[in-house]
Amino acid sequence: MSISSRHDAWSAGTSYDAYMGRWSGEVATRFLAWIDVPASVDWLEVGCGTGALSAAILATCAPRSLLAIDPSDGFLATARHKLPDPRATFAPGGADALPAADASRDAVVSGLVLNFVPDREKALAEMRRVARPGARIGFYVWDYPGRGVAFMREFWDAATALDPAARDLTEDRRFPFCTQPDLVALAHRAGLVSVAAIPIEVATGFADFDDFWTPFTLGAGPAPGYCMSLEADARARLRERLRHTLPRSADGAIALTARAWAVKAVVPPASG
Ligand SMILES: C[S@@+](CC[C@H](N)C(=O)[O-])C[C@H]1O[C@@H](n2cnc3c(N)ncnc32)[C@H](O)[C@@H]1O
Repeated sequence: MSISSRHDAWSAGTSYDAYMGRWSGEVATRFLAWIDVPASVDWLEVGCGTGALSAAILATCAPRSLLAIDPSDGFLATARHKLPDPRATFAPGGADALPAADASRDAVVSGLVLNFVPDREKALAEMRRVARPGARIGFYVWDYPGRGVAFMREFWDAATALDPAARDLTEDRRFPFCTQPDLVALAHRAGLVSVAAIPIEVATGFADFDDFWTPFTLGAGPAPGYCMSLEADARARLRERLRHTLPRSADGAIALTARAWAVKAVVPPASG
């Protein structure tokens, strides 16, 4: 594990949902409407986590089957519990070796995962391998380099003001390739065709400061992992700084937005 990824901490499903799962579901729904896969086909999802994108596939795409894989046993347990659907199978696995046969899926997707995968080229090659000719491949990641995820940006701006060494842990520094041109180029290098990309922006509204802060204390994900690595007094200083710097409306609510880049592409027809 690299120094910068030591706080990523993917295990506790309920903690993840409080931090990220509550927003990723809306991105998933918008992404699926855009990629527009026909009903009654076989899907594979890479890095399903607690099932935000899986739930949206089952609810809106009428799949024949969904194989959803993730390396985290804790997240898989949460996803199975939330989505007891006979069409869905949640299985352990990583993006570098998908547990599926060649040319066995009509839609292969991944939400908010590829930036955490060490070898993205291999991941795209695997997504293509398991997809049938003509299949749709799609993925999305947060716009970290464009500082598009405001609740993370606010957190890290406060954290790095107090602890400059934390700068190397921020997602904009760790994941500079999460831009529209780099993601499109990744799809082209995998030999995919009809590649398109769009931004998807969702509202991330917090009822009050505690609603914003508490998920950072639950430890699931890079920023919460960092937050909980701090000594109690350093964490208290960070909390107080955020309490003063966050933009709030008169009723105490905090209205922010989060933007992802979404890519869709098609597997070319088999040659010969
Ligand atoms: C930000 S979460 C996204 C989860 C879910 N797709 C969503 O939209 O809420 C990132 C997920 O990537 C998974 N992950 C990390 N490394 C992975 C890898 N090499 N292959 C597949 N999944 C991976 C983590 O276990 C975690 O569930």
